[in-house]
Formats: sequence, structure tokens, C-alpha cells
Amino acid sequence: MVASNNLDLIDIEEVVKFVEEQVLQHTGSRLSGAEKLIIKGSWGGKDYTDIARESEYNTYYLQQKVGPRLWLMLSEALGGVKVKKTHFKEILLKQIKKHYVQLEASKLNSDSLVGKTKFYGEFPKLTSFCGREEELNCLKKQIRLFNQRCITLIGVGGIGKTYFAAKLVEEIIFENPSLYDYVVWKQADNCSSIEQLINELIEVFNIEKSTNKSLNYRISLISKHLSLYRCLLVIDSFEKLASSESLKKRIAYEKFFIELAKEQKYSCTIVTSQIPLKEFTHVTTNLPFLYWKLEGLDSSAAMQMLYEKGLSGDECKKLIEIYRGNPSELEAVAEKIHRFFGGNIESFFEYRTTVISSRFQAMLHKQFEPNGFLNNLQKKILIYLAKELEEDSTPIPFTKLIDDLKEQLGLQLSVFEIMADIDILEQRSLVERNNDPDKKETRYTLQPVIKKYILIDPLGLIDEKSNKPKISTQTVNIL
Ligand SMILES: Nc1ncnc2c1ncn2[C@@H]1O[C@H](COP(=O)(O)OP(=O)(O)OP(=O)(O)O)[C@@H](O)[C@H]1O
Ligand SMILES: [Mg+2]
Repeated sequence: MVASNNLDLIDIEEVVKFVEEQVLQHTGSRLSGAEKLIIKGSWGGKDYTDIARESEYNTYYLQQKVGPRLWLMLSEALGGVKVKKTHFKEILLKQIKKHYVQLEASKLNSDSLVGKTKFYGEFPKLTSFCGREEELNCLKKQIRLFNQRCITLIGVGGIGKTYFAAKLVEEIIFENPSLYDYVVWKQADNCSSIEQLINELIEVFNIEKSTNKSLNYRISLISKHLSLYRCLLVIDSFEKLASSESLKKRIAYEKFFIELAKEQKYSCTIVTSQIPLKEFTHVTTNLPFLYWKLEGLDSSAAMQMLYEKGLSGDECKKLIEIYRGNPSELEAVAEKIHRFFGGNIESFFEYRTTVISSRFQAMLHKQFEPNGFLNNLQKKILIYLAKELEEDSTPIPFTKLIDDLKEQLGLQLSVFEIMADIDILEQRSLVERNNDPDKKETRYTLQPVIKKYILIDPLGLIDEKSNKPKISTQTVNIL
């Protein structure tokens, strides 16, 4: 359709075609002759009098009858942004660019070429991406202007790390097709150890095979490669390498991260993980990593997402609050509302239930299972909070939490240990902190989905006396 960075030269007929496609998708109707004239005229910066002069319509008709209805319709068709004649072109340019990037990105697969950039690995396909514009712009600036070489995207399961990383790569590459030689997308899902990840990266980079098999040497080969070529490397789902066994190999992680953070003139590595990298090795806190925590979608992005899933209205705001804007949780609940309640959110709320998607459950099983990511004290803190918040969801003051835990556990608990563990839980988005400036105290709470998981204990991982699952995972979704 257009060259990505040459959007001002778009053929006006293409613009009208693009707008008509959007209107058709959203309203089911086509543009009238008068509407097309206003679009073309406004794109060219003409006022209603000029447009009328060059047409068979009079100014009054175009300005009072056709125009207002058209802008209203376009506000809906162009994703809910308020469209006015004065900034119509600006909004449309953004939309066309977004559409173009999505269209081109949907064709990406291993060995694709964008400009001079070659793609390796299984680049995720984004069906629809909502919101996070500010975060995307901020990270693009960090990479392009401030030369940030290592970025870690941290966030709870399903919050959108993979989607966000893919969108970031898409935008960087389509806006600057000659910035990188390669884009490598490496899914850590299939790697059972850091060694395997390193071997697979060496294979992707096609680095000369050497007889030196030491891990340190192989890591330094990757680092050398990153300094010789301009490479945008994404390592997705790094937490998959965090089995308790592999976490013992702190030295290997240390070396890997140190080499990644080395002076790479042009390359950039993005690591996504549910678990903060400093839990793999503390060395990352002293390295120039940009640590970026993803929270849920903001209200307007989540509303747009739900709208695309066929849900709208004020009740959506309540859904967004309960599920903390977590897109995969919202997707799961939207699907249940359609399937069991005919799309009626109010009737879903009458049953006062919280849906836990199978994806979120799997993430929580990984935390709670024996040898999972949580230590004993972290589990105890979560269980304590869930029980305290069961009847009354008022957040619990930190001082009460310490006193109660000390009493319940009958142990000489060090406050320092509790603070360290609650910090970890907060970074993994498993607990939420509220600061009450009036009372000058810090309070903790759980998001409803996590509270419910702990209270129903689907696999018997929480109640240590029971070894058997209480409820099968299939039946947890709706209670
Ligand atoms: N910005 C977004 N707009 C629309 N949908 C989104 C967005 N982000 C995520 N989603 C939806 O949520 C799902 C989960 O997102 P994603 O796979 O990126 O989560 P994740 O944080 O990588 O999860 P995990 O930790 O399990 O890998 C996606 O498949 C997509 O359907
Ligand atoms: Mg992911």
C-alpha cells in the first residue's frame, strides 16, 4: 500500500478505501458520495466551502448534515478516538501506519526480510493489539536514542509480555527497516537449561563450530557476535529456565548476563520473564539492564479489547478492575460470559464468581508446586493474606501481617526475611501494595483471582495435609 516511512505520499483513493473498509467492518455500511468528498477534501486541508464549490453539494448540507454524522461514525470505526475535521488527517495517518505495520508483520516468519533486516525464529502473530502506546514509545526511545542494550520485561502470566515485545520489535523494524541486520526471536519454552539456550543461539547465529566446548567460551561467542552485527535479540519466557535444578547454576547465568550487557554498540537484547532476572542471579542489579514491569492494560485499552470481544458498557469497568486489566484473564472471562450468560455481564455478576483461566492456574501451580518458585515463607504470606481477606477485602497493614505471622507460625521470624519475601511477591505481581498516606502505613492485598486460587486450592498444593487435588482443574473455572 505505502512505504512505511513515507506515509504523506499515500494515494488519496487508497485513503478512502482504507476508511471505507474500517467503516464497513464497524457499521456494516458503505460511505456515501458526499462522505467520500469530505474525506478527500479534509485530507487535502480544504474547508467545507472549498469542498462544496468543487462539488454538486452546498456548504450547509455538507457542514451541517453530512459532516457531523461522518465524524461520529469515524470515531467509532477508527477505534474509539474522537475524530474531528481539524485533526482527521493526523488520526488517520496513525491508523494507516498501525494497519500497515500489522499487515506486514502478519506475513513475518523465519527468514522473512524487512528492508535489510532478516528475521529468524518464530515471530508471534498479533491478531489485535490494544493500548500501551506510551510504553512502546518510551522503550523505542530507550533503544534508539539512549542506546539501551538490555531490556527485561517482567510481568505475571498472561499480562502481555510476549505480545508487547513482538509489537515493540514490529514498530522498531517497520519504522527503521535498516536499523538491524537480524531480528532473532528465541522462545525459551523449549529449552530445558541455559546450556541448551546458548547452544541454540549459537546455531541460529550460525557461528563457526569450535572444538572448545566450555560454556564460558560459547557464551563469549554469542557476545562477540552481538558486537559484530546489529542484532535485535528477543529471548521470550526466560522463566522457563528457572527450574530449581537450573537455578543452582548461578555462575552460568551470571556469565550470560554479564556478556549480554557488555558494550554492544548496535545490538539490543530483550528478555521477557515472569520471574525478575535478579532472582536468577543478583549480578543483573549492577548491570545496565533496563527493568520494565508490565501491569495490566489501562482502562481505555482494556475497554477496546473487550469491545473487540463483543462486550461493552459500564459493567466492563468492573471486569477490568477485578481482573486488573490482565488481557488473557479478560479474554477468558469474556469467553465465559458469552458461552454461559449470552454475553450479559450483569447476569454474570449476579453469580458473584471469579473466573481463573487455565493459563493463570498453570502459572500459579508453578509457583506453589513442591520445588516451585515460592519458598515456604512466601507461601505462608500468601495463604495468610488469602484467609484474612476472605470475608473482608480491606487491605492488611504490614505491621498486622508481621505480628500475626509471628504468632501463627510460632517462630522467631526475622522481619527482614518477611520484607525480602514480600518484596519478591510484589515484583512477581502476586501481592499488591497500597500506601495509605493519611495513616502513614503500608497495606497488602491480593487480586481476586489469586485469592480465589489459594482458597479453593485446586491441586491440593496449598493445604499441605491433603496430597490429592480437591477439585479437578477443569472444574475450577466457574464455581
Ligand atoms: N496489548 C494487547 N492487546 C490485546 N490483546 C492482548 C494484549 N496483550 C496481550 N493480549 C492478549 O493476551 C494474551 C496473553 O498475552 P501474552 O502471551 O503476551 O502474555 P505473557 O505475559 O507473555 O504470558 P506468559 O507469561 O504466560 O508467557 C495474548 O495471547 C493476547 O490474546
Ligand atoms: Mg509470554
